Amino acid sequence: MSDFNEVVSRRKFLQGSFAIGIGAFAAATIPSKAIGFGSDFNGISFTPLAANSKDTITVPKGFSWHTVAAWGDPLWSGAPEFDQQTRGTGESQELSFGDNNDGMSLFEVNGKSVLAVNNEYCNRKIIYGNRASGLPETPDDVRKGMAAHGVSIFEVAQKGRKWEIVKDSLYNRKITADTKVAIDGPAAGHPLLKTDEDQTGKLARGTFNNCGNGRTPWGTYLACEENFHGYFSSPSDPNANLSADLKRYGVKTKDWGYNWVMNQDRFDVVKNPNEINRHGYITEIDPSKPQSMPRKQTAMGRFKHENCEVVVSKNGQVVAYMGDDERGEHLYKFVSKGKYIKGAASNYDLLTEGDLFVAIFNENGTGRWVNLKESGMSDSDISIFTRMAATQVGATTMDRPEWVAANPNKVEAYCALTNNKNRGVKPNQPVNAVNPRVENPYGQIVRWTPDNNEHAADGFKWDLFAMAGNPVVGEGLMKGSENITKDNMFNSPDGIAFDSKGNLWIQTDGKYTNQGAFEGMGNNQMLCANPRTGKIDRFLVGPKECEITGITWSSDKKTMFVGVQHPGENNPDKCHFPDGGSSVPRSAIVAISRNDGKTIG
Ligand code: FEO
Ligand code: CA
Ligand code: CA
Ligand code: CA
Repeated sequence: MSDFNEVVSRRKFLQGSFAIGIGAFAAATIPSKAIGFGSDFNGISFTPLAANSKDTITVPKGFSWHTVAAWGDPLWSGAPEFDQQTRGTGESQELSFGDNNDGMSLFEVNGKSVLAVNNEYCNRKIIYGNRASGLPETPDDVRKGMAAHGVSIFEVAQKGRKWEIVKDSLYNRKITADTKVAIDGPAAGHPLLKTDEDQTGKLARGTFNNCGNGRTPWGTYLACEENFHGYFSSPSDPNANLSADLKRYGVKTKDWGYNWVMNQDRFDVVKNPNEINRHGYITEIDPSKPQSMPRKQTAMGRFKHENCEVVVSKNGQVVAYMGDDERGEHLYKFVSKGKYIKGAASNYDLLTEGDLFVAIFNENGTGRWVNLKESGMSDSDISIFTRMAATQVGATTMDRPEWVAANPNKVEAYCALTNNKNRGVKPNQPVNAVNPRVENPYGQIVRWTPDNNEHAADGFKWDLFAMAGNPVVGEGLMKGSENITKDNMFNSPDGIAFDSKGNLWIQTDGKYTNQGAFEGMGNNQMLCANPRTGKIDRFLVGPKECEITGITWSSDKKTMFVGVQHPGENNPDKCHFPDGGSSVPRSAIVAISRNDGKTIG
């Protein structure tokens, strides 16, 4: 049976009389002529790795890796080294690299290499592994947890061939769940953002659960708040009937076990209902000015932000693509009102004013960006209740939009849709051409080309660059697209980024059982893809139970920095990355380089 027939019959089987057009077929599979049989990517070649389930990093022959920074490593000389027994205190954590590093960017500032890194959340089982409950039990435990979140900024330098933290650099900085952050854009000053702590509605306290990231052409870092709801609870009224607004953002009467409300009652949504409206945004940080106050850019919307891919459109407007990572949520784009002018001070305000759009994917491979103003909601309401505005305008519900990456060689962008067990199950998430699999366990990567080669344009054409799957044990669509083979299969693409030469790097956050539907995939990994040919090869395999997420390069492109998040998340006793022996598993940033000293992206 040809793939075309297989796809069609699979869909008919899944959906009865679902009518599928030839356009949708073209969009949902990779034309065989696009599959590359050449060996090289752009400026890099390597022998692809086999999958494995080892407790270490594996890279191809001719490449080396070493650890640059791990959770709890001190950023200042006054702080103690990581303590394997206590796993740190509130005070030590405030002076050390946070937990669960995710998105990151390296900035060159006055000749120094400065890394800005999200510390998304805490592995409570690990960070509180010194407590029988595996949870914070004292106010200092909570202080430690809050300090393990946020953004760590620190200088790195090479000693010999190894990169390390430069302690006490004037650029070293911790932005945590307790740091003062300005609120900018349409929601600033809104009554719903006024709290006991700040009567102006223009100041937030803290940024947390920053997942992916972005960077701007004017040298700022963008931290993207994702699962901000998991920190709120209502101990003052355990049976509170929460509002529809709170429910749409996933808030419950109990938090995820962080217990921040033990120290600060702003995390009680009944006592302080507006506190949560100060979170869920993108925070812009200037790593070159350690004294500058970060700014939450509310014009870019409030949802469970994944990353933020910033490009300058042909006409000079700045376009920022953003996913909302939740089953059945949406893909967004912000278009600045002003235009980018190289070197201009006005660039620093480009993200405070503009229009927010949400994507509708048609079955025939076309799509359009709908301005959320069409919801009829005010600019400030769109900024605070972005999800509701998107529903109003009929946005396509997606299979969990994770990172977006824009091709530096071509006007096109890609988004990783990681997986979605609700696809074809919940009424608002029917199977469609861009989300073609029922209970999608593997994920796919969608690609779009804006009309007129203008990222700011309303219209686009799209196709699926890759549909992850298992061609060995899968049937029909579960095999994945043609560029997925027994040798490169993976599941749950999450972090994606282009290097400067135009290779697309794909990082995974999926099932690592290596059994059943996931047999042959091994641990989470990083792959390299050629956007022109569709070829995908496995470049790196991570340690046990980790996610690979976050990628950036040194200024000379001879080092690639990659993030290893939550190694040993479920069975911390069986994972000892990166220190080995019987050590506590720690999230870490590793540096990867070529043994011949040439560039790597
Ligand atoms: Fe924090 Fe959507 O991953
Ligand atoms: Ca993550
Ligand atoms: Ca992610
Ligand atoms: Ca993920």
